[in-house]
Amino acid sequence: MLDHDLLGKNSSRPPIVLVHGFPLDRRVFAEVAADLATTHRVVNLDMQGFGASRSEAPFTLDDQAKAIHSTLREKGLLPCVLAGLSMGGYVALAFHRRYAGDLDGLILVDTKASADTAEAKEGRNKMAELVKKEGSPAVAAQMLPKMMGSKPDPAKKAKLTEIMHACPATTIANALMAMRDRPDYTPDLATMSMPLLVITGAEDAIAPVEVGRSVAKAAPTGKFVEIAGAGHMAPLEQPAAVAGAIRAFLK
Ligand code: MLT
Repeated sequence: MLDHDLLGKNSSRPPIVLVHGFPLDRRVFAEVAADLATTHRVVNLDMQGFGASRSEAPFTLDDQAKAIHSTLREKGLLPCVLAGLSMGGYVALAFHRRYAGDLDGLILVDTKASADTAEAKEGRNKMAELVKKEGSPAVAAQMLPKMMGSKPDPAKKAKLTEIMHACPATTIANALMAMRDRPDYTPDLATMSMPLLVITGAEDAIAPVEVGRSVAKAAPTGKFVEIAGAGHMAPLEQPAAVAGAIRAFLK
């Protein structure tokens, strides 16, 4: 079972499940989770190998979706509304492909539906070499300049750095291979029948606003919300705005 926080008391509605990005853990969603828990039940989890869900076993993004589903099923938390940040968004799309019947809605944050390009795959291989040789801080140093908006809050930047440094090198290498080998989820969008919300930080340099907007447009029920003053880490950078967009969607 994946380690998780279960917050909030409102059991009359499906819970909202939060899935972090790479190379992170559930702490990136902590403020959004606390905010949403005032009105909804919230599950904030660590994926396999991340945070308190310790494991060195290699995984695919589909494996992560299966582990999330089995944790939620065991706890009686299905159906749910699933929200994934960046890599968590790829996992949410894998979950949707496999378990659409257990979803009441899907929320994709700072993410995309397409697969890696050949160049991006090469970048994953290089980063995996880097983390094996130099450890997690070297990956954090490479990624940090692209993670937040142009005026990052120093305390939030320090928190993000701490989270990235804490991610085990083996997990980072495993996640890089999983992201490199993920399929293209774009074709799934056209036939998506459940409500979809796409949220993107206005200054996201990794999954830019145009990409988020096109993901929302490709789904019959897709809605798009842009978060001002945020980059790729909108839930950490602007938690109140992200929680507000999710709450409005859940209504
Ligand atoms: C993430 O934030 O999860 C990653 O940047 C996603 C990616 O590298 O594709």
